[in-house]
Amino acid sequence: MTVCLLIKRNMWFCRTLCFIMEKPWVLATTFGRRGGIYQCFAPLIEKHFTVIPYDKFVVRKEDFADRIQALIVWGVNIKVDHDLLQSLPNLKVVVNGGVGVDHLDIPLINSFGVKVCNTPHVVDNATADIGMGLMLASARNIVKGHNYCEFRESEDLSEAFLGTDVSGAALGIIGMGRIGYKVAKRAQGFEMKIRYYNRNRRPESEENAVGATYCKSMEELLQRSDFVMVVVNLSPQTHKLIGAKELAMMKPSATLINISRGLVVDQDALVDALQKKVIRAAALDVTYPEPLPRDHPLLSCPNVIILPHLGTHTLETSKVMVERMVTNALAALTGGQPPDEVKA
Ligand SMILES: *[C@@H]1O[C@H](CO)[C@@H](O)[C@H](O)[C@H]1NC(C)=O
Ligand SMILES: *[C@@H]1O[C@H](CO)[C@@H](O)[C@H](O)[C@H]1NC(C)=O
Repeated sequence: MTVCLLIKRNMWFCRTLCFIMEKPWVLATTFGRRGGIYQCFAPLIEKHFTVIPYDKFVVRKEDFADRIQALIVWGVNIKVDHDLLQSLPNLKVVVNGGVGVDHLDIPLINSFGVKVCNTPHVVDNATADIGMGLMLASARNIVKGHNYCEFRESEDLSEAFLGTDVSGAALGIIGMGRIGYKVAKRAQGFEMKIRYYNRNRRPESEENAVGATYCKSMEELLQRSDFVMVVVNLSPQTHKLIGAKELAMMKPSATLINISRGLVVDQDALVDALQKKVIRAAALDVTYPEPLPRDHPLLSCPNVIILPHLGTHTLETSKVMVERMVTNALAALTGGQPPDEVKA
């Protein structure tokens, strides 16, 4: 009798303890699948959370919905819409990998009492690096050169392989936030003539530190640059900021580099400009839509380099992004203020 009671009490104790010790549940794109977080980063999340893979969730929502407290958005694979929010009554936070949150309806999410966080700052170096990489690759025909070595059919290098100098060339940076500033810093090492256009002018001391000159008008910047790098955030003001008119203002020898976000560049106008040689070349980290349909005209332009959104895609940066997402989610779940909350 006494023994029985003891066992019963212990079981109750165990169950309570298990419940207290169980990690909070988080819904995430299935690791390693369709643009989900890579498997190698899973332990960083699993250390603090029980992860419910999205694929499993969609087929048995009722088993998980009540206990999910956080949602990890990596890429744009999970659509955070009214239905999803409605089905997760205990959701407290949506943490987004990356800075751009234009795929999230923040007022809608907030209206469910759910916070939204992103991972600013940590992506700056990698994004500025890829901008430089695209500029060099385009100017010096690095991708074309590789393809030539891999598939070459003749011994002759055609004139088309003549690149254009980066050192000493004029670089125009559109958008001088943290990433734009880091681009300038890197370009200074190439002794480029750096101009920038931004809503707000930076203090002179900051301009001098990277050797950048402020342009009051975007027109002036476009007319005078050999390379134009677009680094602005997507907002109603920057939607199709670079259209046919702006492309026409650029030098015919100029290259457009897009490491920005969303539909900042009017892609149809860009195809037209490339085909008609209004500008020399373009180098893009992401396109719209993504991936491009196989028969999209951009893919058959010889003077374009397209990457599958590799901007932040390094081992170190991805790891720090995942850690940052965990920090934000944990803060939100314990009732604290997450360091990177995005307000509508
Ligand atoms: C960028 O890289 C430098 C050099 O490694 C480092 O000091 C700095 O903290 C990095 N910045 C960010 C935002 O990661
Ligand atoms: C510019 O890049 C952004 C993100 O890197 C992408 O979303 C957008 O579609 C790109 N625009 C063009 C014309 O490639």
